[in-house]
Amino acid sequence: MELFEAMYTLRSMRRLKPDPIPDEQIRTILDAAIRAASGGNQQSWAFIVVRDRAVKDEIAAIYLEGWRALKASGYGQAPPDAPEEERRRQGRVLRSAEHLAEHLADAPVWIFPCARIGSQPPTLTSGSSIYPAVQNLMLAARALGIGTTLTTIYRRENARVSALLGLPEGWDTAALIPLGYPEGKWGTAARQPVETVTYGERFGQPFFGPTADSD
Ligand SMILES: Cc1cc2nc3c(=O)[nH]c(=O)nc-3n(C[C@H](O)[C@H](O)[C@H](O)COP(=O)(O)O)c2cc1C
Repeated sequence: MELFEAMYTLRSMRRLKPDPIPDEQIRTILDAAIRAASGGNQQSWAFIVVRDRAVKDEIAAIYLEGWRALKASGYGQAPPDAPEEERRRQGRVLRSAEHLAEHLADAPVWIFPCARIGSQPPTLTSGSSIYPAVQNLMLAARALGIGTTLTTIYRRENARVSALLGLPEGWDTAALIPLGYPEGKWGTAARQPVETVTYGERFGQPFFGPTADSD
């Protein structure tokens, strides 16, 4: 698959089929993940592939509880005075997040990218060495037609999840990524236009000139 097509259509796929993913594809995905950059090329990462239903059920229960608490707090809900289109879009995201929360354990494969963080609390710099690998992993899965979602809600009970995964001291998980063949179709993710988030030389100063469309 062409790289730009993979990047533009890589989005959270939360409705997944339970069909198994061949080991060879899991290897391809992880072999792409470890091509990523890391600070000082330390490669202080590890990837835990989870398929055991009992472990998945236990962590999925933690996730579901976390999701319900988040939802009850109003998280992700568009304000009532938001435009109709935005309310509809947020409604779709919430329904798909709810679906994943309720069916997380049915995803055939989970991957926990883990980072060695040592004894100091991670900073934005030290903690970010895992995310290029996470993005590579998700792009490689996309290229193989396998859906993913980067999730973190389980972290509200992080110590319990780390214990279930047998994580040694000084290691932490960065995400839980459920993988599976998607039920739905791939589509381009909606994002703020690049012009609105790009500045020239100084924050707040437009970089891109007016385009024919915006004239
Ligand atoms: C750091 C991070 C944490 C996230 N945690 C969750 C999560 O716990 N559950 C979930 O369903 N999606 C999670 N997401 C996915 C985002 O909700 C999603 O990327 C965003 O809504 C954009 O939607 P799209 O990927 O479909 O374009 C997370 C994404 C990031 C980058």
